[in-house]
Amino acid sequence: MTAASTTQLAEQFRAAFGSEPDGVWQAPGRVNLIGEHTDYNEGFVLPFAIDKTARVAVGVRSDSTVRLLSTYGDQGLTTADTATLDGRTAKGWTKYPLGVIWSLQQRGIDVPGLDLLLDSNVPLGAGLSSSHAIECAVVSALNDITGAGLSPEEMVLATQRAENDFVGAPTGIMDQSASLRGSAGHAVFLDCRDQSVELVPFEAEAARLVMLVIDTKVSHSHADGGYASRRASCELGAEVLGVKALRDVAPGDLDEASGLLDEVTFRRVRHVVTENDRVLQTVELLGLEGPSSIGGLLDASHASMRDDFEISCAELDLAVEASRSNGAIGARMTGGGFGGAAIALTPVAEEQRVRTAVERAFAEAGYTAPDIFTVTPAAGAMRLA
Ligand code: GLA
Repeated sequence: MTAASTTQLAEQFRAAFGSEPDGVWQAPGRVNLIGEHTDYNEGFVLPFAIDKTARVAVGVRSDSTVRLLSTYGDQGLTTADTATLDGRTAKGWTKYPLGVIWSLQQRGIDVPGLDLLLDSNVPLGAGLSSSHAIECAVVSALNDITGAGLSPEEMVLATQRAENDFVGAPTGIMDQSASLRGSAGHAVFLDCRDQSVELVPFEAEAARLVMLVIDTKVSHSHADGGYASRRASCELGAEVLGVKALRDVAPGDLDEASGLLDEVTFRRVRHVVTENDRVLQTVELLGLEGPSSIGGLLDASHASMRDDFEISCAELDLAVEASRSNGAIGARMTGGGFGGAAIALTPVAEEQRVRTAVERAFAEAGYTAPDIFTVTPAAGAMRLA
């Protein structure tokens, strides 16, 4: 699916709302190269913004009404009022833009009524942050429209608040950071304790590699219990170990930790601690040897999520196994887990073999056919018109 062009979106906006949009903004989805469930533990992540984006055309109104429409889905026109926004009653995708308006209001920013038309080619529910792409496009639009002057770090926190307190998903800051701060050809090495970012070159093409995304079509939601219960285990682990966050536990501390924690909490902690370390190793190896050197770390990350953090599922494991045994040099599930997508770093020469093998393995297992496509590191959120 290709995204609508700026001109097409402006035309659709005129047809729907009978006026000109004041501008068009876009923000990308992301894949996470490595560093899963480390963000809310104040650790490290290494996602990149992808070449699939959400776009919003926005027109400012003179009253407090918000009218929302998308070019896809069957929700039709939704109407709300900036004075009475409520996360419990907001429906479907409109929770994301309405949550961002609400969150900016909580910061004391006066948001006018709006007409908003959304278009997106970020696959929905695939673990590629389709919801954050919408939020980041909207927060960028509203930051410009209101002249609020928020920094990227502040916009990240504003969208996190929308997710946590309006949408009801207790997620961290990784996805918004990738979407708002991504850069073409780079992964975003983010320290989630202080939001500092280093852009790390990730040029798969130059290394004759492609990054395949395998969308298992198993849909997930972080507003469900699995994500929150992992987060609670991490908080418990940090409390028992007497640290501010699991970021403060080093791999060398794990032996001692095993004597202090129950068996399940220990495995949750071990995932986070070793995953943080894998992010640091990945950044170092990328700098020294480039993308073809990180396959083993991707594999180890998947094993840790499957066995210690227990957030994988049969379809994700099969996607990883089938791609690894047919030429991918490393593969792992990406995102929050319990469904969604896997990534497989694959030599260009093996791409077709991996695609065919994964499709065949899914058919043989009786699973819904996966969607398989390539992604490249793309620019972060921007104004298009
Ligand atoms: C989801 C959340 C992120 C992060 C990942 C897991 O994508 O939105 O904040 O916690 O899961 O790494």
